[in-house]
This record gives sequence, structure tokens and C-alpha cells, in this order.
Amino acid sequence: MASFSTLSHTCPSQLCFTKNGVVSKSLANPTRTHFLKKGNYLRVRFQATSFPADDRVPDMGKRQLMNLLLLGAVSLPTAIMLIPYASFFVPPGSGSAGGATIAKDAIGNDVIAEEWLKNHGPGDRTLTQGLKGDPTYLVVEKDRTLAPYGINAVCTHLGCVVPWNAAENKFICPCHGSQYNNQGKVVRGPAPLSLALVHADVDDGKVIFVPWVKTDFRTGEAPWWA
Ligand code: FES
Repeated sequence: MASFSTLSHTCPSQLCFTKNGVVSKSLANPTRTHFLKKGNYLRVRFQATSFPADDRVPDMGKRQLMNLLLLGAVSLPTAIMLIPYASFFVPPGSGSAGGATIAKDAIGNDVIAEEWLKNHGPGDRTLTQGLKGDPTYLVVEKDRTLAPYGINAVCTHLGCVVPWNAAENKFICPCHGSQYNNQGKVVRGPAPLSLALVHADVDDGKVIFVPWVKTDFRTGEAPWWA
């Protein structure tokens, strides 16, 4: 046992405090609070002295490097997650822009003109995947050739896909009843405009769609979608 009433020289950090001055040799373990005889107590706070504080603090260069690494680790996955989220808000195109694209059938294969005409008779209008993925009717003429235009199936009212009604020889929208003739010209509202057109050509045996920018032959007006 040792007795003192001031800071103890046995505590290298000089942070050992005593009240009423009795301390045991167990001060060698500075992490504990010691309760001593006669109700006296000793609370010990200790600061490690074997490792100077300055050695545990990274210098400014290291901290900046760690901050950059942390920023990169957080921002890269965030950006990857935001790209598909942001693309959700990009409206689908009307087929009015962009280059030529090969028409795809219902299962995603390229449309081969010769094979298509073997399986689709005169007057046929069957959906394919057109510019920007828009549903687009490929039209077979009465002479069993492909029409030089395709018809975008997106209704000009509120965007429903308009089915072909062979019995009525019309496109009839199931959403609000708009009707279009067999070339996609609007004949009954509420749709305000005719269905958009695309050029349909054959290149190397495959059907390709190209944006339609010239006059709309159904109305004699400039194309509203261009
Ligand atoms: S979406 Fe076609 S008539 Fe309304």
C-alpha cells in the first residue's frame, strides 16, 4: 500500500486522481476503478504512453487518399444503380428519329422478307419490333409484296397498342375506341392523329425500318412525328 494526496508518479500520464489519498499497488492496471478501505475510492483515467498520440493519426495525404477511396466506393455503385432508374423516366420513342433498324419478329429474330411472305398472305398486318423497339405493323400488299411502309401501332390518343381487326379492315383501339383505316389514317377519335409511319425496305434479304421524314401520303401533310 502507498499513500498520497496528489497526482501519483506511478501513473505515467499524470491522470491518476485520488480522493483521500490511499492507493494500492494495483494501480499498475490503470483501466479499473479501485475501491479502497474506509469507503475511499480512486478513479483512474489513463492515457496510453507507450504509443505517442501523433503516431495514430494519419497524415493529411493519407486522409485525403482514404476520403477519395471512400467516395469512389460509394459513388460508383450509386451511379450504376441510378442509370436504369433514370432510364425509366425517358419516354419511349415514336420511331421518328434514329437510324435504320432490322425488323424483329415476335421471338426477336430478324425478319427475312422471303420467309415472311411465305407465311403471311395478302392484306396481312402483323406486329414486328421496329425503330426504338416500337411495335410496328409490317404490311403485305394484295400482290403479295411488302408495302414500302410500316405502321407504328402506338395509339396517338394515350399510347395503347392498337390491334389490327381483319374483319373490320381497320385498326381499332381497345382503350377508348379510336379507329384507323388499313393504312393507319385516323378515321374516328378521340385519337387526334394518324398512326406514325416508317419506311420498310429490304436489305440483304432482311426487312429494315428507316425513319419516315417525307410527306405523309395519307394526309398530304408533313409528318407530325418527324
Ligand atoms: S389510347 Fe387509343 S383511343 Fe385512347
